[in-house]
Amino acid sequence: MEKELKQGYHMEILLQEPKAGAEALQELDEEAAKHAMRFHRSIPQYQETPLVSLEELSKRLGVKGIYVKNESLRFGLKAFKGLGGTYAMFRILCRELMMDVEMADFRDFQKKEQREKAGKITFVTATDGNHGKGVSWAAGLFGCQAHVFMPKGSSEMRAEAIQSAGPATVQITDKNYDETVQYARQMSEEHGWFLIQDTAWDGYEEIPLWIIQGYLTMASEAVKQLEERKTKPTHVFLQAGVGAMAGGVAGYLIHHYGKACPMISVVEPKEVACIFLSARENDGACHTVEGDPETIMAGLNCQTPCKITWPVLRDFSSAYIACPDFAAAHGMRLYANPSGNDEPVVSGESGAATLGAFALLMERPELKDVRKQLGLGANSVILLFNTEGDTDPVCYQTIVRDGAYPLA
Ligand SMILES: Cc1ncc(COP(=O)(O)O)c(C=O)c1O
Repeated sequence: MEKELKQGYHMEILLQEPKAGAEALQELDEEAAKHAMRFHRSIPQYQETPLVSLEELSKRLGVKGIYVKNESLRFGLKAFKGLGGTYAMFRILCRELMMDVEMADFRDFQKKEQREKAGKITFVTATDGNHGKGVSWAAGLFGCQAHVFMPKGSSEMRAEAIQSAGPATVQITDKNYDETVQYARQMSEEHGWFLIQDTAWDGYEEIPLWIIQGYLTMASEAVKQLEERKTKPTHVFLQAGVGAMAGGVAGYLIHHYGKACPMISVVEPKEVACIFLSARENDGACHTVEGDPETIMAGLNCQTPCKITWPVLRDFSSAYIACPDFAAAHGMRLYANPSGNDEPVVSGESGAATLGAFALLMERPELKDVRKQLGLGANSVILLFNTEGDTDPVCYQTIVRDGAYPLA
């Protein structure tokens, strides 16, 4: 596919025309979203998260509207990730306990007989934080056991948050993210634990697909909330680690809106932009960012794209944006200190990356060309997902209160 690389203000942006005639994965359609939603609604802690309209900021940045799906309020876990973990665990438990997945819901797992059986099941995962917290919490809901492994350099605070969310044991390893995933996989094989990983590779696809389908709940809620306000997004900016969330949400939006689908832009940290790299290589395949990359966007610090969602992001994106850490910090501060009557939103590094990148696209003269090519202007309605709150409260304060990672 024809691609054009733009650079400006420490950002790299790869532009392309989405592939004509491409089809998004069927498993991300309305039916899949409904099934996940039916299950999530049966969890007592379920509540739709708010869709926040940032009117003043829209005026300031020169667009018609900015809508933010605030996932920092999901299940009290400060991130969207619990949606995937709970739904995948539900699917695994239905299969293992031979329950009808079309009929069962969370309430069935509160019965004594099912809890006794579920108590014998152990899950294992590798995580940089939010997914592990979701897995730990979900294991507690179902009465299962869980083990969580974290890559080297993970914050102790994030490890403690996982431990206090549920029954999981947590260990920070001496490995990078990809190696930690392999370690969790090895442990699952040695001990007969269920690997519940939020990325897929050859031969490991069913469980990650369920995780991705779990994320569709936030996408379908957002679409419903936009429709209630009689509006439709023209552009969606999705942050990516392995791209499971971005590809899942994009897939759902493609199914829902068809030809009127908003323009999709993928945002990643510059140091570890594996979707950007794979798009730039332009051979259709997934590519890995080697080494031990570092970024403040811990949730996006992933080196290899998810095999399931990569084709969606490859074929349907209009832009791949690799941004510096200060872009995420900029987004966090914009959310925390809103203009006029806009509601403040608590957003962590990975959550705010999209607002930061989008705001810089609109603000910086060097990026004028890019906004023109993406058609960003007075008629644009922007959809963003604040995928996390202050999941690392100390870092959050140093950035939002003390001004760490200022603009260049
Ligand atoms: C807060 C947050 N946002 C976004 C992502 C990206 O999700 P994915 O790895 O599916 O791209 C993550 C992943 O952990 C995350 O924690």
